[in-house]
Order: sequence, then structure tokens, then C-alpha cells
Amino acid sequence: MVPFPASLLPAAVPLLLIILLVAVEPQAAYADDTDGDRDRMRYSRVFAFGNSLTDTGNAAVFPVTAGGPFTMPPYGETFFGHPSGRASNGRLIVDFLVEGLKVPQPTPYLTGRTAADFLNGTNFAVGGATALDPAFLASKGIMSFVPISLSNETSWFENVVRLLKSSSDYDQHRKTMASSVFYVGEIGVNDYFFALSNNSVNVAASLVPHVVGAIRSALTIMIAAGARTVAVSGMLPIGCEPQQLALFPGGPGDYDPATGCIARFNELAELHNLALKRMLGELRLAYPGRSLLYADIYRPVVSAVASPASYGFGDTPLAACCGGGGGPYNFNFSTFCATPGSTACADPSKFVSWDGIHFTEAANRFITRDMLKRLL
Ligand SMILES: *[C@@H]1O[C@H](CO)[C@@H](O)[C@H](O)[C@H]1NC(C)=O
Ligand SMILES: *[C@@H]1O[C@H](CO)[C@@H](O)[C@H](O)[C@H]1NC(C)=O
Ligand SMILES: *[C@@H]1O[C@H](CO)[C@@H](O)[C@H](O)[C@H]1NC(C)=O
Ligand SMILES: *[C@@H]1O[C@H](CO)[C@@H](O)[C@H](O)[C@H]1NC(C)=O
Repeated sequence: MVPFPASLLPAAVPLLLIILLVAVEPQAAYADDTDGDRDRMRYSRVFAFGNSLTDTGNAAVFPVTAGGPFTMPPYGETFFGHPSGRASNGRLIVDFLVEGLKVPQPTPYLTGRTAADFLNGTNFAVGGATALDPAFLASKGIMSFVPISLSNETSWFENVVRLLKSSSDYDQHRKTMASSVFYVGEIGVNDYFFALSNNSVNVAASLVPHVVGAIRSALTIMIAAGARTVAVSGMLPIGCEPQQLALFPGGPGDYDPATGCIARFNELAELHNLALKRMLGELRLAYPGRSLLYADIYRPVVSAVASPASYGFGDTPLAACCGGGGGPYNFNFSTFCATPGSTACADPSKFVSWDGIHFTEAANRFITRDMLKRLL
């Protein structure tokens, strides 16, 4: 039995519409179909948005979060060999996308200044960022910690567009945008985390239309700026997060028997994903000729947690590799990864969760596999 109010279930979503929209989802388009030579068409850069799952160095220099855990060992121990500002032991989903697309590493927005800095692509994601503005969340009684929302990231993007425009001619700039991949990493989980602090999904579920609306506004800005290829990540299975599992212990009926994840939190994530996919379907109809891909991170993580051995993971897929506290989740804020008293597991490649909130490099590689197939 899952205490999930029937009113939250997506009964209002017309099933037929969803099926229809899935059916007409376009193939990943080539970056630029105007020069008549499809074989040579390639993506040239990535513009990324999101939170700590996508941040490659912004929170590390943003005053509110500078010097945080992600800037200390053992973050980065597996890849880079040193902390790189990424919330993982190594590469993130966006890093595997960049490698797979063979484009340069995007410059974290807060570390760049000139058009030349941003021409390789730009990463606007900030650890702790919310989809919704802090003032809106506050109006719902929800406190956020890092005062950066998706609208900040899109206004930074508009700054970069202005810079790039001023240093190239119209046609060049149009090609720059058309040959870029826009990756909107998962965004909204922080909004939901803060709303779930009372252990009730009601407040969090009431945010779903607003969160998806904020993502829609951001996508509209990217499309208006000339984006043609956009991959939008869905929500992760919130109920499989070691942090949530440790914070909200429940009775047997609270867990999905197949995964051991908290069922009502995963249903919240599915509600978000359904609304997101529906919104993307509407945008595809409104903006034909663009590739608007839904990038699923929910299904790969649930699969890895449900049958870890099938995908090369170890037998504790719900435990954090780095942290402390032991037990099935190995998570306690007082021994958060990289703080004194925390320890890291010997083999992070066997874990799905790195620090109880963020994925290991191994999980990120696994999650990115299907995403890349659809972009290439
Ligand atoms: C852009 O990418 C190229 C190729 O990876 C690299 O050589 C160059 O230093 C990068 N420029 C900036 C400003 O990051
Ligand atoms: C983020 O956006 C808010 C609201 O527009 C603004 O007040 C704030 O200065 C922005 N923060 C940064 C760091 O750009
Ligand atoms: C959580 O509960 C406290 C105390 O009842 C209340 O003050 C707060 O606004 C609630 N927060 C959310 C996000 O509902
Ligand atoms: C977390 O660790 C602190 C300090 O050791 C301890 O007091 C607390 O009970 C732990 N919390 C949980 C949920 O285990």
C-alpha cells in the first residue's frame, strides 16, 4: 500500500496524446542541414544547464558554495585524479556526452569571460540550483539554499549569446547555434528535496507543473536563440537516493519490492517525467524541425538498482560509496562524503551512488549510453 493520493496520479493526461507524441518524436537531426553535405555535419559544442548532476565547475567558484565538499578529495579520485568541482568520483553525464559527441569540454560559465572562452560551449549548471526561483519556493514555504534557479542560467545563456553574436556575423552565429547540442540536465530534484523535507509528497507534487513550466520557459529561450538539437533529462528515481532512504525510514509497505526504493518518491519522479514528456510533445508541435529529445535517467537507474549484477554493479546499489554511518544506505549528513570521519568504498565502479545524492562515474557512464545512441 502506497500512501499516494489518487488526485496526484496523472489521470488528466490523455494517454492517446502521449502515444501519438512518442510516435512522432523526430530522429536526432543533423546539426546543420543547410550546407548540403550531411556526411560532414557534426555537432560543434555543448551548452549545458542544470544542477550538481551537470555542474563541472560553477559551484566551486560561486561564493555561496565555493570550498564545498565537491572541491575536496575524494571527489574526482577515479577520473581527473583530483577534485574538479564535479559532484562525483569522476565524470558526469555531460562529460560522457561531450566525449561521445567529440566536442570540446564546455567552459563553466562562472570561470569564463570572453566570447573566445564560451565558443567551445558553456556549462551553466550550478550545484544546488533549483528549477524554480527562490522567491516562488519561499511563497510555498520552501527554503532553498543556493540562490540560483534555471532562470538565472538562461539569463547567463543570453549574456553568452550576446557576446558570441557581437563577435561573428549573422550567418556564422546562426550556424553556431544550429550546430550546438543543448543539454538540459536533470533539474527540479532540489526543489522536490526541499519540499519533501516534511516527508510528504503533497507539497512536492504540487510543484510539478511549475517545475515543468520553468523548463519549458528555458527551452523556449534556447529555441528562440536558434537551438536545433536539445536533449532534456528527466527526473532521477528520487526514492532510490540513499539520502532519502536514510532520512525517511518507513514500514515494509513504503518500499517498492523490486528495488527497495521508496515508492511514493519514485511516483513523484514519474509524475514529473510524464508532465515533462507531455510538455516536450507540445513543443515539438509548436517548433517543427527541431530535435527535442527526452533523455531518460529514471529507467537506467531503476534497472541498475533492481538487477545490479546484470549491469556490472555490486550487491549494495542503494548504499553510498562515500560517506559513513553504515547500514544498508551508508548515509548520514554528519559524515557526508569528504567531511572528517567519512570514508570511501574501495571500488566505486561497483556502486550506483557516490555520496548518497550523486551518481558514481560508473553509473553516469551507464546512464549516458542510451542518450548518446539517440544523439549520434
Ligand atoms: C577549446 O577547445 C580546444 C580543443 O579542445 C582547446 O584546445 C582550447 O584550448 C579550448 N579553448 C578554450 C578557451 O577553452
Ligand atoms: C538570479 O536571479 C535573481 C532574480 O532575477 C537575481 O536577483 C539574482 O541576482 C541572480 N543571481 C545571479 C548570481 O545572477
Ligand atoms: C513543514 O512543516 C513545518 C512545520 O509544520 C512548516 O512550518 C513548513 O512550512 C513545512 N514545509 C513545507 C515545505 O511544507
Ligand atoms: C548520524 O550520526 C550522528 C553522529 O554520529 C548520530 O548521532 C545520528 O544518530 C546518526 N543518524 C542516523 C540517522 O543514523
